[in-house]
Amino acid sequence: MTAKFVAEVIDSTAVFKETIFDGKVLFCTGGGSGICKRMTEAVMRHGANSVIVGRNLDRLTTSAEELSNATGRTCIPAKADVREPNQLRDAVSKAITKFGRIDFVICGAAGNFLSPISGLSENGFKTVMQIDTMGTFNTIKATVPHLRVTKGAYIHVSATLHYRATPFQAHVSAAKAAVDALSAVLAIEEGPYGIRSNVIAPGPIGGTEGYDRLSASDPHEPEGYVQKVYNRTMPLGRVGHVQDIANAAVFLFSDAANFITGQVLPVDGGNEHLREPFLPYPDCILDSEKAKSLIKPRL
Ligand code: COA
Repeated sequence: MTAKFVAEVIDSTAVFKETIFDGKVLFCTGGGSGICKRMTEAVMRHGANSVIVGRNLDRLTTSAEELSNATGRTCIPAKADVREPNQLRDAVSKAITKFGRIDFVICGAAGNFLSPISGLSENGFKTVMQIDTMGTFNTIKATVPHLRVTKGAYIHVSATLHYRATPFQAHVSAAKAAVDALSAVLAIEEGPYGIRSNVIAPGPIGGTEGYDRLSASDPHEPEGYVQKVYNRTMPLGRVGHVQDIANAAVFLFSDAANFITGQVLPVDGGNEHLREPFLPYPDCILDSEKAKSLIKPRL
């Protein structure tokens, strides 16, 4: 049998010039960690300065230093909860005071946990809607006047899990579907002002909080159930890497994408076409003990 192909993880600087974003400024919510931090780093490696926004100032400050040191550009932290429009407006003011402009916005702040509808409180559902959906709306409202000036671009970090029903993700599915819809309307309303808006939909990305939460091994199996599912449902031979998402962000912000707007770009190695329930179905619904052993830390 021919050896299984495994796609290489490449860096955007191997494809795009390191100067394409010289003089540009990125405003990124959720940029203090995970996928959004890597997206910020990639955009900075091509010349941009940045502002990363989040709730935890200590983590943001450390990340901003790391990003500045790694790229030779300037990253500053701005503390804000995306659920609070006034805090976001202050973060935008900080960006304008420091850099004088905003060209790119990543709406990346998100909340996620696994819970069946039957075990999800009204406040739990509302919390994720407020972080993901209202947070995206609030970020757009606070930044759009500045992007009209620079004819800038938005990227919204969504997901693929709501294309079909995903157990224990009702709150996130509803929130991400709304984000996709918001981006499309933003694209058509602001296109005439020169602004673009697109969505990146990451598939399973290794090393992220969400993936780790799902990958808790089944004590009854030598290999975790989730890993087994992904081993057979990733056409390009591996789960995603945060750099795959960062590369997509560089492309979508670049002039090479200047006729692309209102689109959703899944970056999932083709997984969506083969996607299976990530937990054994319907056991995960009916056997709560089994589900608890697979979903950590709590159901
Ligand atoms: N299962 C069920 N309900 C949960 C839950 C879980 N694992 N985690 C939180 N909730 C519920 C809480 O019980 C609360 O509802 P209640 O008041 O009816 O009890 C509601 O959600 C708000 O939770 P709280 O922790 O007070 O909100 P927060 O604003 O501090 O944090 C999250 C919200 C989503 C950020 C938090 O749950 C969290 O830290 N999640 C994991 C980290 C994460 O989401 N990272 C981003 C990855 S994309």
